[in-house]
Amino acid sequence: MKFFHPCILLTMGLHLVSITTGDNPFLYLGFTGTNISVDETASITTNGLLELTNGMANRKGHAFFPSPLHFRKSPTGMVQSFSVNFVFGIRSSYLNITQHGLAFVVAPSKNFSDAFANEYLGLTNTLKNGNPINHIFAVELDTCLNIEFKDIDANHVGIDINGLSSIQSYYAGYYDDRSGSFKNLSLSSGEAMQAWVDYCAETKEINVTISPLEMDKPIKPLISVTSDLSTVLQEPSYIGFSSSTGSINSHHYVLGWSFSMNRPAPKIDIKKLPKLPPKGQKPQLKLLEIILPVATLTSIICMGCVIILFLRNRMRYTELKEDWEVEFGPHRFSYKDLYHATEGFKNKNLLGAGGFGEVYKGVLPPSNLDVAVKRVTHESRQGIKEFIAEVVSIGRIRHRNLVQLLGYCRRKGELLLVYDYMPNGSLDNYLYCGNDKLTMRWAQRFWIIKGIASGLLYIHKKWEKVVIHRDIKASNVLLDSEMNGRLGDFGLARLYDHGTDAPTTRVVGTMGYLAPELVSTGKASPLTDVFAFGIFLLEVTCGKRPVNHNIEDNEGVLVDWVLEHWRKGSLTETVDTRLQGGYNVDEASLVLKLGLLCSHPFTNMRPNMQQVMLYLDCDLPLPELKNTDMSYSLLSLMQNEGFDPYTQSISIGTISGISGGR
Ligand SMILES: Nc1ncnc2c1ncn2[C@@H]1O[C@H](COP(=O)(O)OP(=O)(O)OP(=O)(O)O)[C@@H](O)[C@H]1O
Ligand SMILES: *[C@@H]1O[C@H](CO)[C@@H](O)[C@H](O)[C@H]1NC(C)=O
Ligand SMILES: *[C@@H]1O[C@H](CO)[C@@H](O)[C@H](O)[C@H]1NC(C)=O
Ligand SMILES: *[C@@H]1O[C@H](CO)[C@@H](O)[C@H](O)[C@H]1NC(C)=O
Ligand SMILES: *[C@@H]1O[C@H](CO)[C@@H](O)[C@H](O)[C@H]1NC(C)=O
Ligand SMILES: *[C@@H]1O[C@H](CO)[C@@H](O)[C@H](O)[C@H]1NC(C)=O
Ligand SMILES: [Mg+2]
Repeated sequence: MKFFHPCILLTMGLHLVSITTGDNPFLYLGFTGTNISVDETASITTNGLLELTNGMANRKGHAFFPSPLHFRKSPTGMVQSFSVNFVFGIRSSYLNITQHGLAFVVAPSKNFSDAFANEYLGLTNTLKNGNPINHIFAVELDTCLNIEFKDIDANHVGIDINGLSSIQSYYAGYYDDRSGSFKNLSLSSGEAMQAWVDYCAETKEINVTISPLEMDKPIKPLISVTSDLSTVLQEPSYIGFSSSTGSINSHHYVLGWSFSMNRPAPKIDIKKLPKLPPKGQKPQLKLLEIILPVATLTSIICMGCVIILFLRNRMRYTELKEDWEVEFGPHRFSYKDLYHATEGFKNKNLLGAGGFGEVYKGVLPPSNLDVAVKRVTHESRQGIKEFIAEVVSIGRIRHRNLVQLLGYCRRKGELLLVYDYMPNGSLDNYLYCGNDKLTMRWAQRFWIIKGIASGLLYIHKKWEKVVIHRDIKASNVLLDSEMNGRLGDFGLARLYDHGTDAPTTRVVGTMGYLAPELVSTGKASPLTDVFAFGIFLLEVTCGKRPVNHNIEDNEGVLVDWVLEHWRKGSLTETVDTRLQGGYNVDEASLVLKLGLLCSHPFTNMRPNMQQVMLYLDCDLPLPELKNTDMSYSLLSLMQNEGFDPYTQSISIGTISGISGGR
């Protein structure tokens, strides 16, 4: 029989107060020098914060109490009461929104290597989500709305068992003790907040409460739900935190944490906690404190430093330049300029990352021009000359619906492409991050659709030669300061192609947007762009991803789902519910039908972009879709090609043979 130790909570020292193994209570006031197990992006900062994610896009991080805890008195007994208290903070330096969130977790293992980042919060993946063998209990603090997990909004707290569809959730906030009224809290406000999780063995009640940092624990919990954790948790289990980011630069921190079995968790003294970094900045080393004690040696060290820095700087800015590049001179940027423009490719300037590499915001010094610099890892030198020639020729294309390519720079193993900066980001953020401020009205969506059609028509037909985009999708549709849609990233997929002559064996593009003939022959054509454009039309109108993981709703492959509704005559039921009916029915059904036509598996059924433009402008009536032509399922056609969009679609989204960015 084990007995409960009276807790030894005599406060002493700044950080760790009492830490024991096994089932005893613990309390962390900051994490310096502690034995927390961290992985991936998680680390302990110099001032003692537990930083779960560090601003890098599409990543996850975990932190666990090092040894497992015994939740039961005997291996077959009931899970005992327990209580958790922690202080957390969520920061972003981009827009005013963060992605995706963090969760307190109880799990049978500390190994989450096969979990996905993004909306999966580093907890599960497509295949494992919701499966009872997970034995996971989690409390999520989620700053993103994910329709596939039936999230209620982009700022909520939820209780998760084995998966991300919460058994209960509520808007982040607390009940005021005096008035009893509900007060909202914004999880991504950048302020530190407290959270409590309490489980009662007798009543099987789970209570979750959050509050602003300075406030005592509110009496009424935010969420209270009855669920027997004895049927969920394994013996023993680990406790800790999991967190993930999406494409927006976000940091998730834990400042303090306490836990206790069978009694309330030790109270966290907020005065003893480390401070969150100043808003919009990363924690900095206090260089001065380190340099001063060695003041006597300063002059000598400085001399050495100057010489080393000088040499390092020369190394830092070296680029690769060959004779054939002379003719492209005006389109070439110096690495030094780009390095300074992006403040040394600092994380705070990271706009996002895709299959090919990271994108940073920068300001070019002489003109103060805002630019976006895309850093593509590229080892092979083969074909680079042709690619640069094409980049430069693409750079001469000017159109109001295309993102202007300004030039390039080349280093060893690295290619930098410089584009006009688009202050309103990419369209996927508006379609999928459920921040209400960002939901787009139908008129706006229709305007963007027409714009993108016109941009695509231009590169297919109206420019001096035919340019194939190869990667049309919502994240490559960027929004300028007037919210016009502009197509970006065209031709980039070519870099990972063998070129036009050699038979292409590799498919480059993004899952869900790939035309069946592209998968089977590997040959891109204007009609494979039309296919992807069709998927894009459905995506914008339905507000759903081309491939959804929520297979149970039969919404897996977007085209098939829309087709089914078309067959049943209930096409408008697929229109994004966030529009709340506020859309032009004629326009929306035109776009949906056109989307189905464009993404038809048979190329001869697809219109070209010239016809698409006429249909969109109502200058030509859309041909009636015939039942016989539309009796297919894209999913089974693709599976016949030996290609399964479910298993191959991972959160990165882009495949490429030479393996692009990551
Ligand atoms: N010109 C730009 N101006 C502003 N933001 C940009 C610009 N280009 C890209 N971004 C941002 O950077 C993010 C990452 O872009 P990136 O092109 O690397 O990835 P992606 O579009 O998701 O995938 P892919 O690699 O297939 O294009 C985008 O989602 C977008 O928010
Ligand atoms: C840290 O935890 C590990 C795993 O439980 C243990 O082996 C190690 O001794 C601990 N170290 C300290 C300093 O507590
Ligand atoms: C968030 O954006 C609003 C305007 O949309 C601004 O007033 C507010 O200061 C911003 N908050 C933060 C934390 O940046
Ligand atoms: C974690 O689990 C994966 C398989 O899911 C395994 O390949 C890997 O070796 C494990 N890592 C550790 C550190 O145990
Ligand atoms: C609190 O948040 C909910 C959900 O986002 C919203 O409906 C409500 O209007 C908000 N209340 C206040 C006072 O801001
Ligand atoms: C949960 O909250 C309810 C309502 O305040 C309270 O009666 C109950 O004791 C709480 N249970 C736990 C486990 O804290
Ligand atoms: Mg892109």
